[in-house]
Amino acid sequence: MSEAKVAGHYTRGKLEETILLAVARTGVDPERLKAMDLAVADEFHVGGLEATQELAAQMELRPGLRVLDVGSGIGGPARYFGAEHQCKVTGIDLTEEFVQVARSLTRRAKLDHLVEFVQGSALNMTFPTASFDRSYMIHVGMNIADKAGVFQEVRRVLKPGGLFAIFDILRTREHKMAYPVPWATNEETSFVVDVNSYREALQRAGFRVERERNRKAFAIEFTERAIARAAQSGHPALSLRLLMGELAPVMIKNVLAMMKEGVLEPVELYARAE
Ligand SMILES: C[S@@+](CC[C@H](N)C(=O)[O-])C[C@H]1O[C@@H](n2cnc3c(N)ncnc32)[C@H](O)[C@@H]1O
Repeated sequence: MSEAKVAGHYTRGKLEETILLAVARTGVDPERLKAMDLAVADEFHVGGLEATQELAAQMELRPGLRVLDVGSGIGGPARYFGAEHQCKVTGIDLTEEFVQVARSLTRRAKLDHLVEFVQGSALNMTFPTASFDRSYMIHVGMNIADKAGVFQEVRRVLKPGGLFAIFDILRTREHKMAYPVPWATNEETSFVVDVNSYREALQRAGFRVERERNRKAFAIEFTERAIARAAQSGHPALSLRLLMGELAPVMIKNVLAMMKEGVLEPVELYARAE
């Protein structure tokens, strides 16, 4: 029930068409698309491509590693891991439209020999046990109530010793959430918890949490920079508004305010499969 609501929240309709029109408006030929041309619109999380690069840099990557992207969206991070690190990436996502758009953009960027997408729930994956070397999950846990369940599934499909990197928005204290936020319009699909809950669920799932990094200062600075840029030169054709819809400005404003009030904080966690 909650998963159908989550997918409904993200489904835009005609998203591929809208993105390709916006690409053309930036002067890029949609038939000669490069993965990086899309970075301002296909990295659906605070900090955009910069945040993905930072996460990847701490994941002990090398060409040919099999990497699982949990909640891959329209595939920006997965294409980055493929194009820049030559990893073999599989993305799984609940939202059918996102998976279709992810596949199409990946074909256009000529990365489909390295990067593939499947539609499905991270809570019930069909991948064989111990089939991935690394996994990451970026801004997805906020939509999943059963943290222990998703971490157990990721642990099952990771090889022992494999690294799981998470970049999610967490709660610092109990406080009423202001909706809408980019991942939910109300509490029915929003399950933001604190870092202790992540740590405990990871440990119970068979991970050793090796490192954590609070990204609040970076996220506030990045978001304020984007807002200032838009105020100065108008909203660019290609941006996360294409994924968030008309509520984008208020969604961003709410998250920024809650980060500044100390209610929310984006955090990276690096956990080793034992
Ligand atoms: C905010 S987007 C982030 C997308 C992507 N990780 C990125 O950073 O560009 C959250 C994504 O998580 C997906 N998602 C939420 N719950 C999921 C679940 N149980 N299994 C798989 N995907 C899920 C949504 O469909 C959506 O694409």
